[in-house]
Amino acid sequence: DRPIGVAVLGMGTVGAEVVRILRDHAEDLRNRVGAPVVLRGVSVRNLDKDRGLPAELLTTDSESLVARADVDIVIELMGGIEPARGLIKAALDAGKSVVTANKALLAVYTGELAASAENNRADLYFEAAVAGAIPVVRPLIQSLSGDRVNKVVGIVNGTTNFILSAMAETGADYHDVLAEATRLGYAEADPTADVEGYDAAAKAAILASVAFHTRVTSADVYREGISKITSEDLETAAAVGCTVKLLAICERVTEGPEEGGKESISVRVYPALIPRKHPLAAVNEAYNAVVVEAENAGRLMFYGQGAGGAPTASAVMGDLVMAARNKFYGGRAPGESVYAELPIASIGET
Ligand code: NDP
Ligand code: HSE
Repeated sequence: DRPIGVAVLGMGTVGAEVVRILRDHAEDLRNRVGAPVVLRGVSVRNLDKDRGLPAELLTTDSESLVARADVDIVIELMGGIEPARGLIKAALDAGKSVVTANKALLAVYTGELAASAENNRADLYFEAAVAGAIPVVRPLIQSLSGDRVNKVVGIVNGTTNFILSAMAETGADYHDVLAEATRLGYAEADPTADVEGYDAAAKAAILASVAFHTRVTSADVYREGISKITSEDLETAAAVGCTVKLLAICERVTEGPEEGGKESISVRVYPALIPRKHPLAAVNEAYNAVVVEAENAGRLMFYGQGAGGAPTASAVMGDLVMAARNKFYGGRAPGESVYAELPIASIGET
């Protein structure tokens, strides 16, 4: 069988786990895909770090790695906008499939990257970009594509949920818990993205895009973070039977008949007071949960580990198997991995 060649860009918290699974579960992967899935190389910034990999697999030259003729699928786990965007685009333009967890990039450039994927009949998969291990992107794109999703509400940032849970439960100090979240590999390279809500806003933009089959970018999302939440705020919340969670809320909004009945989409991220008996109140530590309300399915809840190396790598590997199977069996239906651009009336805070 012709092997499926894989390049991994980045070997940090998530990339290291992906490389581990690729090597430890090679036989399982071969069975799932129908052909061997072979790691061709891994790009990093620093070649001096000991990563337990043969030196010939490591490089700092991501561009050449992506361009190799024996690389069919590129897994981007370096984060940030450039060079990740250029490398993903180069891969897609060369007809290679891409799996990425880079929500900051996707929340701005999915349109451009999806067009490259579509034009070249390549896959662009990003399950790991939202809510770590939890399968929520594919259920929205595929399983619910015959229904009409009206609302998606979730806790989609593990770091802030870890901080809020620890502050509420043990009165822990905000800065100490943030340092612990960083140590555990939950926080972004710059944790400002987590605590100021940028990471949740990027995920909300992706969720809204796939849920409503339209295009929402992070600039469209109303955003507040948790950096101003104090222990006193949490005590006050507890005293009235509530808890504070950083929520991402995406919903269709329909104006009244007197305003023309126009439909728009509202996407927002902010710390919210929620009653203790609400299912999202029980989501603690770095766990995430996403509640989806669809016209016919009713309410669905997705729950699991929202951050960290192994959980996120699980989602990456699921996408890899899909992309590898598509490569092996020779393609997929157009539009399967990306969403169509449908007009929306307006986006704003409600
Ligand atoms: P890390 O910071 O731990 O790792 C980044 C890796 O990319 C490092 O190995 C680094 O190399 C490498 N890298 C960075 N820039 C370059 C470059 N220009 N050229 C080559 N290599 C480069 O990040 P994470 O693993 O935590 O996150 C990776 C991606 O996954 C990000 O987009 C993040 O948002 C996303 N994500 C992370 C989750 C998590 O829980 N951590 C969960 C879901 C998504 P070196 O090792 O030499 O420094
Ligand atoms: N920093 C992110 C979080 C990683 O804490 O949720 C998972 O996307």
